[in-house]
Amino acid sequence: MHKQVQNEDEEDNLAFTPTYASRFLNEPIAKYVLSDKSQSPETVYQIIKDELQLDGNAHMNLATFVTTWMEPQASRLMAETFEKNLIDKDEYPETADIERRCVNILADLWHSDHEGQALGTSTVGSSEGCMLAGMAFKWRWQTKQTRKGIKPNLVLGSNAQICWEKFCRYWQVEPRFVPLEKGQYHLQPERAVALCDEGTIGVVGILGSTIDGSYEPIEELARTLDNLQAKRGLDIPIHVDAASGGFVAPFLQPHLVWDFRLLRVKSINSSGHKYGLVYPGVGWVLWRHPDDLPKELIFRVNYLGGDMPTFALNFSRPGNGVIAQYYNFLRLGRQGYRRILQNCQDTALFLSRKIEDMEYFELLSRGDDLPVFAFTLKKPKTFFSLYDLSDRMRERGWQVPAYSLPKDLQSTVVMRIVVKENFSRDIAAQFIQDLKEQVAWLVDHPYKHPSVPRPSFHH
Ligand SMILES: Cc1ncc(COP(=O)(O)O)c(C=O)c1O
Repeated sequence: MHKQVQNEDEEDNLAFTPTYASRFLNEPIAKYVLSDKSQSPETVYQIIKDELQLDGNAHMNLATFVTTWMEPQASRLMAETFEKNLIDKDEYPETADIERRCVNILADLWHSDHEGQALGTSTVGSSEGCMLAGMAFKWRWQTKQTRKGIKPNLVLGSNAQICWEKFCRYWQVEPRFVPLEKGQYHLQPERAVALCDEGTIGVVGILGSTIDGSYEPIEELARTLDNLQAKRGLDIPIHVDAASGGFVAPFLQPHLVWDFRLLRVKSINSSGHKYGLVYPGVGWVLWRHPDDLPKELIFRVNYLGGDMPTFALNFSRPGNGVIAQYYNFLRLGRQGYRRILQNCQDTALFLSRKIEDMEYFELLSRGDDLPVFAFTLKKPKTFFSLYDLSDRMRERGWQVPAYSLPKDLQSTVVMRIVVKENFSRDIAAQFIQDLKEQVAWLVDHPYKHPSVPRPSFHH
């Protein structure tokens, strides 16, 4: 009898109680063990949704490169295609074909001589693309290696993103970092080439640098490596890590030569979820020629009735990022990407000019490569640090990271701003007003916020 009343109470509770009067929202929930009981979908939705409100506001996140807004139609399409598993190419042949079309569109943007048969794959993001490209380099180097006892190395700027350090550690390749210098925050070709030898599996060029958004001089790097080959016979390939620039340079700097137009560039990766303007996680990696992607690395999946070639670190993964990428390609075309990115760049230039005009800051870059720029304090030891400023801005809701530069320039702390599609000029003006107010506050309260040195997030 008692049990029956309790069940009726529960049913009443589910059917008629307003959401926030539900018993489940008035009690602690089982967070770290699986609870014995089920709950209504509305209640669980509300609990999780409410908790996630405590996350930062994506519109005020100037830290991330990753897309924080897509059109409602794109979001709907993504929600309607959650079930598509990209590995089930035989089950979802249209999704597989859409992936192939995207690879061909990118090959075209990056000037590959592919004739509709571009060689590449979607990935979870640029990191996976970099791992695959690095593996192809290592394999290709190994098969050509005739002398015993030589260990593989990879040459890259010490501004390279952490995924390259990861690649080197996981695949046992020695990373040879070209140091940065004050005023020179990315790879210098002559210094990179000086580190190359018979063990060098490749050199990584970055378009653009995660630290300050600047483009590394890929064409000059290729020329310097050509000279090395002419002098010492070493034929060293380039991989371009175009995580952000792969979707920016073709539209904003179409005459910049950085891609497959350079014979030495054998592979390129980019993140669809950065300036490809898709929600996380989709990335891309493409190769110039079948010879650049060793056959042994391609697995044929005999599964669900088909025989499909794949080259990926994962087996199952969501297909809806690829579908959303294709949506953007059809929806925006070259004209749409150009307009959106030009807006981002104009806003970046507006912000960097305003920040340069303030007496305390010095720019490392202005946002004229990627719509991304970094700045530092002119006199780091006076009044406040950029960590203090980052904290103050966070209190207003803005997420702007402060971090120290990599090895060799570790004592320099910078702030970086990534301008994305949903950061309008109006919000940018509000940001500058808040920045000025927080700087004025810190100048007025120099001892209330002692600076605490924090580790760099970069390395
Ligand atoms: C130059 C560069 N390479 C690789 C990555 C890693 O990209 P993802 O987050 O798509 O794995 C990033 C991310 O910021 C990057 O800027």
